[in-house]
Amino acid sequence: MSQENETGRIVPMRLQKFLARAGAASRRGSENLMTAGRVTVNGNVVTELGSKVDPLVDEVAVDGKVVRLADGPVTIMLHKPAGYVTTMSDPQGRPTVAELVPVSAHPGLFPVGRLDADTTGLLLFSTDGELGNGLLHPRRHVVKRYLACVEGRPSERELELLRQGVELDDGPSQPAEASVLEGADARRAMRVLDVPPVVAPNASRERADALRRRARERAYVRICVHEGRKRQVKRMLAAVGHPVVALHRDSFGPLDLGDLPRGAWRALSEREVAALHAATSRANLDERGALP
Ligand code: URA
Repeated sequence: MSQENETGRIVPMRLQKFLARAGAASRRGSENLMTAGRVTVNGNVVTELGSKVDPLVDEVAVDGKVVRLADGPVTIMLHKPAGYVTTMSDPQGRPTVAELVPVSAHPGLFPVGRLDADTTGLLLFSTDGELGNGLLHPRRHVVKRYLACVEGRPSERELELLRQGVELDDGPSQPAEASVLEGADARRAMRVLDVPPVVAPNASRERADALRRRARERAYVRICVHEGRKRQVKRMLAAVGHPVVALHRDSFGPLDLGDLPRGAWRALSEREVAALHAATSRANLDERGALP
């Protein structure tokens, strides 16, 4: 799969492969960029999918911005869909996140932390072991923000317990920020979490009534944690009596998922990678590790 010959010289490669490897988009996304006429090679628009480029000679641009092959470490974010296990290979043959990220272009990619198979949202990958270790270091864990749909409605007292730290089976949690979302925020969370409809169209009247009662008893919660223990958010919410129905991570330290479509990945900009490095040292950053 390597594009390098025995002298180390990068030989001509297909333009869509070049774009994916340079982090412009996924392979399919790169083809779409080309067919949309957004890609130029040496100033000429190229829409032909079989076209080749020589990375050492040709200047490739997307929307007028030059893109180059990364020669240093690569860090990307994935919008993880539900149903994928966070591992690069699964002996049980379940779908894994490795199927969704450009491992053939960047064989050293590994997930930075994990999301449960049924959790959606922002999952980072990097080829930079030092950055990964820094972000996962227990004493430097950057803040992670989640939206959760929970059974029942947490009271102010229960939210206060989460804010102080709750007892878990592997020791007390650190304090979290927690609030129940209302109005437009709750409706947005409902769309993002994509909780399956409570009442199936063919449900009997009694079942439909029972399910509707249960739906009324659900709430949408914003919770931000500084640790990354296994099933941490689910265990914390269950510990205060509100099991999680669905969970989504929409930010990790200084990075937001934004409008990255579900199942898509994108390479981080140099500025974003610098902000992640800074978040591991917490230097010159606010509580969230946000970009200045
Ligand atoms: N906490 C959880 O319980 N699950 C996740 O996937 C992430 C955080």
